[in-house]
Amino acid sequence: MVESATLFNREYMSKILVTGGAGFLGSHLCDRLVASGMDVLCVDNFYTGSKTNVAELFGKPNFELMRHDVTFPLYVEVDQIFNLACPASPIHYQFDPVQTTKTSVHGAINMLGLAKRVKAKILQASTSEVYGDPEVHPQPESYWGRVNPIGPRSCYDEGKRCAETLFFDYHRQHNLPIKIVRIFNTYGPRMHPGDGRVVSNFILQALRNEDITIYGDGLQTRSFCYVDDLIDGMMKVMNTGEDFTGPVNLGNPSEIKMLELAEKVLRLTASKSKMVFKILPQDDPKQRQPDISKAKAKLNWQPKVALDDGLKLTVDYFKAVLNL
Ligand SMILES: NC(=O)c1ccc[n+]([C@@H]2O[C@H](COP(=O)([O-])OP(=O)(O)OC[C@H]3O[C@@H](n4cnc5c(N)ncnc54)[C@H](O)[C@@H]3O)[C@@H](O)[C@H]2O)c1
Repeated sequence: MVESATLFNREYMSKILVTGGAGFLGSHLCDRLVASGMDVLCVDNFYTGSKTNVAELFGKPNFELMRHDVTFPLYVEVDQIFNLACPASPIHYQFDPVQTTKTSVHGAINMLGLAKRVKAKILQASTSEVYGDPEVHPQPESYWGRVNPIGPRSCYDEGKRCAETLFFDYHRQHNLPIKIVRIFNTYGPRMHPGDGRVVSNFILQALRNEDITIYGDGLQTRSFCYVDDLIDGMMKVMNTGEDFTGPVNLGNPSEIKMLELAEKVLRLTASKSKMVFKILPQDDPKQRQPDISKAKAKLNWQPKVALDDGLKLTVDYFKAVLNL
C-alpha cells in the first residue's frame, strides 16, 4: 500500500514550525533544521529578531519566513513546533512587560492549541529564570525556584513559569506530546548587540576600547553555553520518545566569575579598555549554574565547546557587526 504522505507529496519532509525563528537561538535552530532536510517555517514578529539572521536561508526550497505575532492564533499544518518566541534579555523584555507576559502566556496557549489541532509535537524554550534567585546550587529540575512575582523581572520569569504550567496541563488534559527545555545563559554569533547581556556587553565595550562595566564586585558567577551545544541539546530533546516531557536543564555547568570573564575578553580582543564597577540591578541572581545530570543521563548530552573557543567565534561576529 502506498503511504498517504507519499501520495500527496512525493518528497515528504517533516514540517517544522520555529516561533521566534529570526532571533539569536531560533536562527541557529533554523540553520540546523534546514541543513538536515526538514521543511522549516520560521515565524517571527521581528521584535528582537531580524531578517538578517536568517538571510542565508532565503531561497532554499525548504525554508519559509512568516511575519506573525504569536499572541494571535496561527493556522498552519506542521508536524513539530519549537516555541522560542519571546524576548530573552532584560532590556528587551522589560521595555514592554505586558507584551512579554502576553507573548509567553497567550503565545503558549496559541501554539499549544495549534499543536492539539494538527497533532504536532511541541517543545517550549523555557529558562533558568524559572528558578529565580535560587537557594540551591547547582539547580536541578526538581527545584521549584524562588521567584519574585511582582518585580521588574517577573513579566519574564512568571510568564515562562505559566507557560510551563500550560504545557503540562495540555499534556495531562489532552495527551499532547510536549517537551520543555530550561535554557541557561547561552552566547554566540547573532546575539543582539543591544541586549545588554554580559558577554555581548563586554565584547562590544572591549572592541570599542570603552570602559568595561562590571555590576557589583564582579565576584558573582555565571555559566555560559555556546549556541551550537545548546541547539544540539534542543534537537535531541525534540527527538526523544513520547514518555519524555522534561523539564530538562540545558546549559554549561562550568562557572566563571564576571571579573575573570572580563579579563578573558580583554585578552581575546587585545583591548585597551579599563574595568569600571556599578551597582547590581534589582533581583540579579548572585550565582546561576545548571545541574545537567538529567540531560547527561536521558539525552547523552553535555556541552563540548570550550569558553575560549566560543568567545573567539563571538568576538569575530561582533568585529564583523562593527566593520572592524
Ligand atoms: N539566549 C539565552 O541565553 C536564553 C536563555 C534562556 C531562555 N532562552 C529562551 O530562548 C528563546 C529564544 O531566545 P533568544 O536568546 O534567541 O532571544 P531573541 O530575542 O534573540 O529571540 C526571540 C525571538 O522571538 C521573537 N518574538 C518576540 N516576541 C514575539 C511574538 N510575540 N511573536 C513572534 N515572535 C516574537 C523576536 O523577534 C526574536 O526573533 C526565548 O524564548 C528565550 O526566553 C534564551
